[in-house]
Amino acid sequence: MTIRISKCCREDLPILQEISIETFDQTFREQNSPETMKAYLEEAFNVKQLEKEMSDPSSEFFFIYLNKDLAGYLKINVNDAQSEKMGDESLEIERIYIRRTFQRKGLGKYLINQALEMARIQNKTMVWLGVWEKNEKAIAFYKKFGFVQNGAHSFYMGDEEQTDFIMKKPLV
Ligand SMILES: CC(C)(COP(=O)(O)OP(=O)(O)OC[C@H]1O[C@@H](n2cnc3c(N)ncnc32)[C@H](O)[C@@H]1OP(=O)(O)O)[C@@H](O)C(=O)NCCC(=O)NCCS
Repeated sequence: MTIRISKCCREDLPILQEISIETFDQTFREQNSPETMKAYLEEAFNVKQLEKEMSDPSSEFFFIYLNKDLAGYLKINVNDAQSEKMGDESLEIERIYIRRTFQRKGLGKYLINQALEMARIQNKTMVWLGVWEKNEKAIAFYKKFGFVQNGAHSFYMGDEEQTDFIMKKPLV
């Protein structure tokens, strides 16, 4: 079993769009209306939007492969690309998604470690993320890696306001 993580580049955009839509849909479809999902998927993952995010020097995308198969992806932000004003010493995990059939094989752990490693390389002192209050599986996953809830913020799925817990992990 070979696990490989690689940084995404401009040429990866079509695949990034595909996996972003697929994994978001898999994760949240059951708990949201089809209208809300459709509106959000179109707004968040259209080519123009993803192109903008990829060209931001303060954001990075990574793919994770299990053997030759694309199994998931990670998006991290620093500086002004962070979704909240957390300051220049922190790094945000904005998206971490493993395709359903590849979950619970330890791949999420690799992506979390990739984010922590990128934070350390850039001398950050804290890694943080926002997670939907109803996403219990992800919350359990983050707790496992030492993230602790510390506040909340609003997240808009289309017009619908939802609550995201903010979870933080200090780096020592
Ligand atoms: C959350 C997610 C990234 C975890 O990735 P993963 O590859 O499935 O997790 P791993 O196999 O690396 O799990 C590592 C450890 O985290 C914990 N964990 C992972 N998934 C868990 C779950 N569903 N429930 C409880 N604990 C969990 C376990 O302790 C696990 O170790 P174990 O399998 O030896 O018990 C992945 O399940 C996913 O993409 N989910 C859907 C998308 C999502 O919710 N993303 C987060 C949005 S904020």
